[in-house]
Amino acid sequence: MKGILICGGSGSRLKPLTDITNKSLLPVYNKPLILYPLQTLLDAGITDIAIVTGNEHMDQMAAFLGSGSRFGCTFHYCVQDKPKGIAQALGLTESFASGDSICAILGDNIFFDDLSSVIKSFKSGAHLFLKEVHDPERFGVATVKGNRVDSIEEKPVQPKTNLAVTGCYVYDNGCYAFIKNMKPSPRGELEITDVSRWYAEKGQAVGMMLKEEWIDAGTFESLFKAAEMVRKRLTK
Ligand code: DAU
Repeated sequence: MKGILICGGSGSRLKPLTDITNKSLLPVYNKPLILYPLQTLLDAGITDIAIVTGNEHMDQMAAFLGSGSRFGCTFHYCVQDKPKGIAQALGLTESFASGDSICAILGDNIFFDDLSSVIKSFKSGAHLFLKEVHDPERFGVATVKGNRVDSIEEKPVQPKTNLAVTGCYVYDNGCYAFIKNMKPSPRGELEITDVSRWYAEKGQAVGMMLKEEWIDAGTFESLFKAAEMVRKRLTK
């Protein structure tokens, strides 16, 4: 399995912090945000990892991460010229994946659960990680039947459940053929939710409930809260 860290986008909700710095390089207590999703991939034994980011941040991303040797992995860098959506960013990694299944994690997501056994045991279809939240309208929202994800909506005004689809997507290689034929959403992006929904509609999306805390650190409040969560764990 190949790993992908999706770190493009404009970081508009964190301006002016993101005026010159990529969101994933902002500090979360004692280290840059990107090191948390990176650790999730490393914990799952994934050592071949693509970093997708915009051309304006590629230099600082490569300067910080380097070849990967200090993390015991190899990084491949893919430029997303324009922020045309998370699925578009994922589509850029097709040749890197070269037929393998992938685990793509958003560069602003921090997981405190151990996802490694689920990622390592993946065979085909999609595996998604769900978390009960109090503000589901900020996220992709799933309905489930047993351990299957039944439907997903992106940021619904009236969510059917409080189950957020978190930013870790384990897909088989079939995702790339689907992404090639995708159409942009009304906001002009190729939506990752549409990829997951394609698997869900085929009955091939398994959902695992997270037990520990999870955070999407993409806003001032959640970035601050992420730092508090990390500090609490490090100092207890
Ligand atoms: O955090 C989980 C949520 O992430 C999911 O529940 C949603 O379904 C999913 O759409 C996403 O929502 P966000 O509103 O948080 O996405 P955001 O625009 O913040 O982008 C998430 C990451 O993806 C961020 O690190 C930047 C990167 N990105 C985003 C876009 C739009 C790219 O690399 N390229 C892009 O074009």
